[in-house]
Amino acid sequence: MVLRRTLLAAAGSERLRALVAGTGPARRLVGRFVAGEDIGDALEAARRLAADDLSTSIDHLGEATAHPAQAESATRAYLALLDRIGDAGLARRAEVSVKPTAVGLGLGPEGEALAAANIGRVCEAAAAHGTTVTVDMEDAAAVPATLRIVAGLRAEHPDLGCVLQSYLRRTADDLAAMAGAGARIRLCKGAYAPDPATAYTAHRDVDSAYVRHLRFLMASDAYPMVATHDPRLIAIAGMLAERAGRGPDAFEYQMLYGVRPDEQRRLAATGARVRVYVPYGQEWYGYLARRLAERPANVSFAARAVVTR
Ligand code: FDA
Repeated sequence: MVLRRTLLAAAGSERLRALVAGTGPARRLVGRFVAGEDIGDALEAARRLAADDLSTSIDHLGEATAHPAQAESATRAYLALLDRIGDAGLARRAEVSVKPTAVGLGLGPEGEALAAANIGRVCEAAAAHGTTVTVDMEDAAAVPATLRIVAGLRAEHPDLGCVLQSYLRRTADDLAAMAGAGARIRLCKGAYAPDPATAYTAHRDVDSAYVRHLRFLMASDAYPMVATHDPRLIAIAGMLAERAGRGPDAFEYQMLYGVRPDEQRRLAATGARVRVYVPYGQEWYGYLARRLAERPANVSFAARAVVTR
């Protein structure tokens, strides 16, 4: 728990970022979780995964934008990505995931409206190419605004997906409010530093909450996107889907690029829908710190890489 907190705090450290970024081993570690630095790398990964019957949700890395010009540049990166997805004939397989703080949320009192407008532009482009968008959920401070943005945009873009995090105590209510017919809901445990006042902090409490939310989601009219690598939760999701009479096209499993790739292929081979979250870009540091915080084995792998450089 202490290690996890330290790593999540390090996610925001510019000094550590500069220290880590220059090392060759760090680059190899990044390469395990990030498809590459440019759009071509992301599309190549999407193509490779599609050959194994795996769909993708592509994330242009970046978060906590500090200036409107950066939010505009992140939005344009998504528009360019969607053009390339369309041109490559990948729209049936590849959608995009967007972080609200990358496209303006957090930029003062106007930030919410700016993020909503920018995500709206991404949704228009995705619809034009025949694919979809899912809005990532960030730290607890961003949750209320993110939910308002998604609710507002769903009037025009009902296929806009949204992430809910089981570690937040509020999620049962948010799920009940959101799980209308066809609503695409990606359920995950939650990757940010949890505040004990508003979140479950013990693993077993988070896992129990995940099962409760999954049970609700599978029995609802929404479209469940089961985002976890946890073998127990994956098995429970399968059982609950069957109990709810959901066929393989009525929900999907989702996992992160580089995490349990064999399990991704195994599930797809059973006929299940499986989507891999594929991040790309230069702003990989915060994303990598959250992946290391999730799993001690990744931390020792990273430490060995840096020590032996
Ligand atoms: P957890 O990390 O607790 O692992 C449970 C078990 O899974 C482990 O005990 C092990 O058995 C297995 N496992 C996990 N990693 C493994 C590995 N590398 N190799 C082998 N086995 C492994 N979070 C967030 O806050 N906002 C968001 O928008 C998103 N978006 C998102 C999209 C997608 C598609 C995914 C899969 C995840 C997210 N997340 C997220 C991250 C999420 O909240 C969570 O932090 C990670 O998925 C890790 O949690 P797990 O459910 O995998 O369980």
